[in-house]
This record gives sequence, structure tokens and C-alpha cells, in this order.
Amino acid sequence: MSSHPVEPSDLIGLGKRYWLPVYRPRDVVLDHGKGARVWDTEGRDYLDFGAGIAVNALGHQEPDLVAALTTQAGKLWHASNVFWTEPPLRLAEELIGHAPFATRVFLCNSGTEANEAAIKLVRKWAASQGRAPENRVILTFHGSFHGRTLASVTATAQPKYQEGYEPLPGGFRYAPFNDVAALEEAFAKGGIAAVMIEPVQGEGGVTPAAPGFLKKIRELCDEHGALMVLDEIQCGMGRTGALFAHTHDHVTPDIVTLAKALGAGFPIGAMLAGPKVADVMQFGAHGTTFGGNPMAAAVARVALRKIASPEVLLNVERQANDIRKGLEKINHEFHLFSEVRGRGLMIGAVLDGAFKGRAGEVLDIAAAHGLLILQAGPDVLRIVPPLNITDEETEAGLERLHAALAEFASGEAKVA
Ligand SMILES: Cc1ncc(COP(=O)(O)O)c(C=O)c1O
Repeated sequence: MSSHPVEPSDLIGLGKRYWLPVYRPRDVVLDHGKGARVWDTEGRDYLDFGAGIAVNALGHQEPDLVAALTTQAGKLWHASNVFWTEPPLRLAEELIGHAPFATRVFLCNSGTEANEAAIKLVRKWAASQGRAPENRVILTFHGSFHGRTLASVTATAQPKYQEGYEPLPGGFRYAPFNDVAALEEAFAKGGIAAVMIEPVQGEGGVTPAAPGFLKKIRELCDEHGALMVLDEIQCGMGRTGALFAHTHDHVTPDIVTLAKALGAGFPIGAMLAGPKVADVMQFGAHGTTFGGNPMAAAVARVALRKIASPEVLLNVERQANDIRKGLEKINHEFHLFSEVRGRGLMIGAVLDGAFKGRAGEVLDIAAAHGLLILQAGPDVLRIVPPLNITDEETEAGLERLHAALAEFASGEAKVA
């Protein structure tokens, strides 16, 4: 029952003709959603285990978010940061209320912009300490993903995102993820002003920091007078079962970046800064036209209240257990995965042996079976559903995943 009389292929044709061809969406035109389900323009329903790349933390059409947005839309859309408005002020207060490590907030519009702010803050802080530019190095990790703008993509230690964009900004150093000896070696070279890390790498393969790795980073940062910057853009905001992923590791960061689920589907990003750095950037040092937009902030306030609730955080744990059990059962039957990893509702199933490199194919087959999942590189299936997904939605999604993977595995058997 589509409200669009137009053929999906016509719409897809527009994308192929007019969009900068940097994306390759699946051949599905989504029209509307409710909870963890979405419908395409032809009325087919899908279980949404991708949540718009870990964004729609409270599913689709969540009534309180819709009310927050429409109420604010009827009042004031935009004012810029040359005037005060209430929603971003309240949001900042409420974020700080949940973040004992932070004293100030910078609101922006996306993840990469939050990371740019963090990178600039690190540099400004190092400059304020009288450090020469060569001693303002930011250390990041192989497999990381910090965004697509030029400094963030330079922080992203994956050549495939950087190739062709040289000359890249200087002052970044890379080390293998979860390798303490390499971390110590990188510090020993000197000049490190900050370490920037995702507590759970998302795009790089859904890989959590090994137990003790974040603590080691904190220790080395303290020893060498460096800052600890956590990119919680994907793993933050309840995704791991805690509002902030780093609280599992009992570390206190200096800077944390957020985006994605912060607005639960409405674009917004944030950089939270702790006392060591919060007053380093003064009037005119940074800015953005749209950051702290009242509509985005009004939605984010409600999203924050809901995501931080025990009801949602406990649901993350429960549904994550069920999905992991479901994946194990499927694996028992079809022997597809070498490992199922991640934290909370950020789950990666790593394709094994002959199935390696074929995550994209699985995504197509899953969509044909009415299930939307993501990949994290060619080998990893990524499952990041809404945090308030219901038992019924999880069960229906797992049934469709089973059917899709049965087809995928049997195709493989035919080829072999
Ligand atoms: C950990 C992490 N950092 C930064 C980003 C960039 O966010 P955005 O796409 O909103 O710029 C992403 C996006 O996938 C991410 O997963």
C-alpha cells in the first residue's frame, strides 16, 4: 500500500543519474517505518537491524520524538549561535548531567564534525601548553573510522578512505589496535598530544578494545601529558548497554565525541570536553551555523532521556543475548562465522573460510528476505538494531536472517 504511485526503479534512476556516485544503495526505496520495521514504496516490510547505520536508536516514528520535533517545528526552527535558545542549553545541561568526565559541550551536526572539533581542541590545547607543532601528534589505530572530512579521514587509519586525498593534514601517527607493545613504542617516539580511539571499532569490523587497553592508554596519556579522546559516535548513546561505552572499562576520558544515536535519527553531533581542556577554546576559536539547532536539540533531549533509562539499557542487554544466541544457532547449522563479537547491540558476525569477502552478498539476500543488516568491511555482518527493539521484532528478524543465511550457505554449497 504505497502512497507513491511512482515506480521504485524510476526513483533509483534519479539517484543513478544525479547523485555524486559515492554510494551504492541496495535496490530498495524505503518509504516509512514504525518501531524496528520499515516499509518500501511497494509496501514490503523489512526488519531494520541496521537502524540507519546505528542511528535510529529508538526505532521509527517513536511518538515522544515525533512530538518533540513537531512541537519545536511549530515554535522556532533555527536561530544560529548568535542568539540563545532553550533546547540546546537544556540538552547541554542534561548531557553533562550524564557525563561526570565533562564540563562543557560543543554541539554540531555530524560525527565527523564532532571529531574535527576534538582534533582542533587537542591542537589548541597543545599550543596553549607551548608545545611546538611537531609535538602535537594525535595517535589513532589501524581499522579506526573517524569520519570523512579531511582531518577526520586522516585520523581514520585505513588507507582506502585516504587514497587520492593527499596531501593529508600532518600530525597523525597510527598504531595497531589492541597492541600494548606498539602503543608504548608509539609513545616512546615522543610528541604525542592525544590518543583518539573508538572503544568499539565500528566500520573497522565491530571490534571492542581488548580488556585493559583503554586503561593502558589512560595511563600512558597521564605519564606523557597527553589527552584521551574517545570517539563514541557509533558505540555511545546506549549501544553497548551503557550510555557511554567507556564506562565498561572504568576510564575517565578528556574528550568524548557523539553523533548518530544522539538525535535518534535527527542530525546532531556533540563534543564533550573535560576540565583539562574545556576552557582552552575561547570566543571565535571555533563555530558552526547549524550546531545546536533547536529542532535537533529538542529531539536529542527526549532521545537522551529515553536512551539513558534502565528500561532501554536493560533491553539492549536482553536483546543482544537473544541475537547472539540466534547467531550461534545459525552458525551451528551452516558454519558461516569464525566469530561473533561486539558489545551490547553492536554485533559483528565474522564470515569464515570460503565465505570471507562476501558480506555484501549476504546483505542483498537478507534484504530480499525482508531484513536490513549492514556490513563492516567485506568480511563482517554488522547488526545494530534500535535499542528498544521488541522481543517480537528480534524473533522475526532472526527468522528472516536464518532463511537468508540458509540460502547464502546453500548457494555456496552449489558453487563449491
Ligand atoms: C566511530 C565513528 N566516528 C565518526 C563517524 C562519522 O560520522 P558522520 O558520518 O556522522 O560524519 C562514524 C560514522 O560511521 C563513526 O562510526
